[in-house]
Amino acid sequence: MSRFAEPQHPAFRAIHFSIDFDRRLWPQDLAGSRAHARMLASTGVLTDAERDELLRGLDLVETELREDTFTILPDDEDIHLAVERRLTELVGPVGGKLHTARSRNDQVATDMALFTRGEALLAIERIDALAGTLIEVAAAHLDWPLPGYTHLQRAQPVYLAHHLLAYVWMLLRDRERFHFVATRSVANLPLGAGALAGVNFPTDRGLVARELGFAGVAPNSIDAVSNRDFILDYLGAAATCLTHLSRLGAELVLWSSSEFGFVRLPDAWSSGSSIMPQKKNPDAAELLRAKAPRVVGSLTGFYGALHALPLTYNKDMQEDKEALFDAVDTLDLSLVAARGMIDGAVFDRERMAAAASDDLIAATDIADLYVKRGMPFREAHGIVGGLVREAVSNGIPLAEVQSEHLDAEARSLLAQSSWLESKDSEGGTASGRVRTQLELARAALAAPPA
Ligand code: ARG
Repeated sequence: MSRFAEPQHPAFRAIHFSIDFDRRLWPQDLAGSRAHARMLASTGVLTDAERDELLRGLDLVETELREDTFTILPDDEDIHLAVERRLTELVGPVGGKLHTARSRNDQVATDMALFTRGEALLAIERIDALAGTLIEVAAAHLDWPLPGYTHLQRAQPVYLAHHLLAYVWMLLRDRERFHFVATRSVANLPLGAGALAGVNFPTDRGLVARELGFAGVAPNSIDAVSNRDFILDYLGAAATCLTHLSRLGAELVLWSSSEFGFVRLPDAWSSGSSIMPQKKNPDAAELLRAKAPRVVGSLTGFYGALHALPLTYNKDMQEDKEALFDAVDTLDLSLVAARGMIDGAVFDRERMAAAASDDLIAATDIADLYVKRGMPFREAHGIVGGLVREAVSNGIPLAEVQSEHLDAEARSLLAQSSWLESKDSEGGTASGRVRTQLELARAALAAPPA
C-alpha cells in the first residue's frame, strides 16, 4: 500500500535520488543507527533482544558495504533507506523497528555532522604535515637570500626561510578554523529531533550524544533539522586554506620558470609536453593555484541553496552533499600535493642570490640612512628616487652613480647582505629574527589547537 497511484517519472528519480553520492555516508549512518538502537532499548522502546538483532544486522550490512558486496537496488533513494532496506532483508521485520522515534531529517543532519567533524580533523592532520614540512625546508634554507616582491617587482631582499614560514602562519590559522568546525560548529547532536517537532517516544539524547562524541544535544528540534551551519563553516575554512595554497602554487609556478629559476620541482610532481621534449611543466603547482575557486563556488552555491529557505527541512538541503564532498576531496588532495612538491623542491641558491643582489633593492635602506641622520623620510625618499632614476637611465648599479648624497657610509651600505641583517625588527628578516620565528613556528605547531 502506498499513497501514490502512479510510478515515479525516471527524470524525477534522477533529480531526487542521492544514493550515487551519499553512499559514502555509510559509516556515519551505521554509527548513528547503532547509537539510536541502543538508546531505544535503554528507554524501553525496544527489547534487548530486538536491539541485539538490529546490531547484528547492522554488522552484516557493514560487512557488505565495506567489502563492496552491497547491491544498490533501483528503489534505494538514499543511503539511509538503502541501509534500512538491506537490514530488514537480513534480519526480518524487526529491521523496520530501527526507524522508530527517528526521521531521515534528524538522521541526515547527524550523519552530515559526523562526516564534517571527521573531515575537519583529517584536514588538521594534513595541515600539520604540510606545515611541518615547510618548517623543515625553512630550517634548511635559513640564510638563502631572494628578492621579496610587491606588485611582482623586486622590493626588498628576504631569506627563503622567512618567506616559507609565511605559509606556516597561514596554515596555523587554517588549523584554528578547522578546529572550530570540529569542536564548535559540530557540537550538538541533531538526532532525537524527529522530523522537526520531537518524537512520541521516551528518548535519552544525552546517551546518543555521548556515544557519537557530541558535546551536547541540539536544544531546539526545529533548529536541529534545519541547521547546516557546520557545512558552511567547513566550506569557508576550506576555501580560505585553498586560497593560501593557491598563492603557494602560483609562486612555485613562477619560481620554477626559466625566467626566475629559483627552484626545481621534483620530477615526481611534474609532467612533460606531448610535443616539446625540453618542457617540464609544473602541473601540480598550477592545479594548486586553480583549485580554490571551485570550493569558493561550492560555498557560495550552498549559501544560495540555504538562502531564504523556510524552516525546517527542505529538499534543497540535499545539495549540501556534493558541495561538501567535492570540497573535502579537493582540499585533501591539494594539501597532500603541496607537501609532496615542497618536500622535493630543490632551490637554486645562486639564482636567488643574483636576483636579490641588484643594489636598487637597497634603495629604502639608503633612504633610512638619511633618516637616521635626521632628514625627514619624505625628503630622503625623494633624493633616493632621483639616484635610482639616474642608475636606471644610465644602466648602472646604484653604487656607481656619481652624487654628493652617496658618501662612503651610503656606498658601504650598498654592499650586500647588510640589507637583510639590518632588518632586525621583531618579525623581520634578519637571520636572528628568522631563527626565533622558526622556533615560534615549531612551538605553535606542536601545541594542539585550542
Ligand atoms: N537524502 C536526503 C538528504 O540528503 C535525506 C533526507 C530526506 N528527508 C526528507 N524529508 N525527504 O537531504
